[in-house]
Amino acid sequence: MNEKLLMSLAYGSAVTTGERAVTFSDLTGLEDSFKEADAWLRQGASEGKDGFGWMNLPKRNVDDIQALSRWLATRESIVQIGIGGSALGNLMLHGALLPPYWNELPKAKRGSPRFFMSDNVDPTDNRAIWELIDPESTAIIVVSKSGSTAETASNFLFFWEKLRDTLGEAKARERVVVVTDKEKGILRPFVNETGCKSLILPADVGGRYSVLSCVGLLSAWALGIDCKTLLSGASAVDEAISKTSSVLDNPAWILSGLSYLHMKKNRNLNIIMPYADSLDRFGEWFAQLWGESLGKDGQGSTPVRALGAIDQHSQIQLYTSGPDDKLFTIMTVEQGQKDIVLPAAQEKAFEKLSYLYGKSMDALRNFEAGATSAALAKSGKPVISLSIPVLDAYHLGAMIQFYEYVTGLTGRLMQVNPFDQPGVEQGKDYTYGLMGRSGFDAQAAEVRALSAKINERIVSL
Ligand code: PA5
Repeated sequence: MNEKLLMSLAYGSAVTTGERAVTFSDLTGLEDSFKEADAWLRQGASEGKDGFGWMNLPKRNVDDIQALSRWLATRESIVQIGIGGSALGNLMLHGALLPPYWNELPKAKRGSPRFFMSDNVDPTDNRAIWELIDPESTAIIVVSKSGSTAETASNFLFFWEKLRDTLGEAKARERVVVVTDKEKGILRPFVNETGCKSLILPADVGGRYSVLSCVGLLSAWALGIDCKTLLSGASAVDEAISKTSSVLDNPAWILSGLSYLHMKKNRNLNIIMPYADSLDRFGEWFAQLWGESLGKDGQGSTPVRALGAIDQHSQIQLYTSGPDDKLFTIMTVEQGQKDIVLPAAQEKAFEKLSYLYGKSMDALRNFEAGATSAALAKSGKPVISLSIPVLDAYHLGAMIQFYEYVTGLTGRLMQVNPFDQPGVEQGKDYTYGLMGRSGFDAQAAEVRALSAKINERIVSL
């Protein structure tokens, strides 16, 4: 299994020139920093330090998650309530590994429950989900690491009351699974009070790094995703990384180094552009991981998700000819799931399309990725090509671990803490204050004072 190719990464230093070039020797110059950062991550993980626990997830025992997922798999629908790191990883796993239009497929083709995510606090969305499910055969998973996030709490209050009113307390309780910290927050006392099912989210794993814990695995397993293989891909990447100590042989160090060095050269936008619809959500998951982990102390690069080939017809003009403030990663999957060979049309009108006849749709997509990379290189923009042989659980697990490692490593190079999120907490505290939560009066006063500045002048039409 470990001998399988996990991914390949390519970068040409000759593309960028002049003072803002980033060369291979710039990368090798970071070798000692990488070694130090790698040791820092491994030591933190082995000591169970706050935030470092994701490194141990591929090897953690997951029997309790699998057991609970077997019950979930018997439900007609699953509604997951959570936001940020308690939602984006699930959407990424399902988007990458389940057939598209999952909920629309007939039950016989799915063989597993439909899945709905209630993440945003949007009354219309939440009502729509409620209208689409049969409460009797639905399970509600509520996920919150802190157990206090207002959006998750509000969405859960809505569904819990609906469930209780429709089915009665005892039946409602049987249909709820809580995933939260062992002690913190209001959800653990709810578990103790109602006796509903629950799993413990490891204390040393932060929200955006939690997809390979019960947060991501529980619903993924219930929907038929092979989570053991997902974890073995994550393990394999970890093993492979730990064996390579030379920068230019280590794709994770190269990606981290390029991101760091280009950031230093004022390329502060990090564009991730997969050429696969199934990786669209990967871009969203990555955006949270990268943005929240590294946007600190006046530093960071803004993650931007693009999708090939769609954004060739939307953003490439800007990417090639606009400001040189971006680093690009073009992502491809070598072998698609079920390719389409384009048929030869009978109509004369289509003669000029004969160059497409008999060609594979996957090949066209990958040529487009190559064409975009070339267009970027021609305009002197730094571009990384990352490809995986096939998009399956093994390779997705590898990609997840790889990007989490690259993010942690880059944080260390930047001398920021990649595992905290004070800016997110600030927003949460202001919300608590505005909603009248006790103990948050000072925050409410602060928001009001700031709002007065923001709205200094209001002009209406
Ligand atoms: O990464 C993080 O810690 C955050 O973005 C959280 O995932 C997000 O705020 C949701 O928090 P919680 O899971 O505590 O409800």
